[in-house]
Amino acid sequence: MAQRWLPWLALASLPVAAPLSALEPPSTVARWAAACNGCHGPEGRGSGAMPALRGQSADALAAKLKKWQEDPEAAAATGHVMARFSAILDQETLRALADHYGAAP
Ligand code: HEC
Repeated sequence: MAQRWLPWLALASLPVAAPLSALEPPSTVARWAAACNGCHGPEGRGSGAMPALRGQSADALAAKLKKWQEDPEAAAATGHVMARFSAILDQETLRALADHYGAAP
């Protein structure tokens, strides 16, 4: 009756103890931050000509993003890169991103 043991063998060969965090979907902020870091460098610490987001206060970051949302002239002055990004952030995500980068200088 070796066949009885086949399902157990299959189960036993599954990778054990995958960290639980690896199974959780990334939060909205984590997904956005991955995109932001694409330009702003690892963890938003700056890269080449791209300004660092870390090291600024959360309020300062939020104020810049909000200004681009509300003031078309200021948005145009960015060469439209950040104007486009800030335009599609809702207020909750904008604040969460500002807190994310502003939290750890
Ligand atoms: C395609 C590249 C790119 C991506 C992606 C990007 N940025 Fe930027 N960001 C820039 C550039 C370029 C500037 C400088 C614009 C300027 O100051 O006119 C900038 C400036 C900023 C500033 C102002 C920094 C300062 O000190 O003045 C903030 C805040 C910012 N970005 C936040 C974000 C956030 C949050 C995200 C993700 C939602 C993001 N950026 C994604 C290119 C990018």
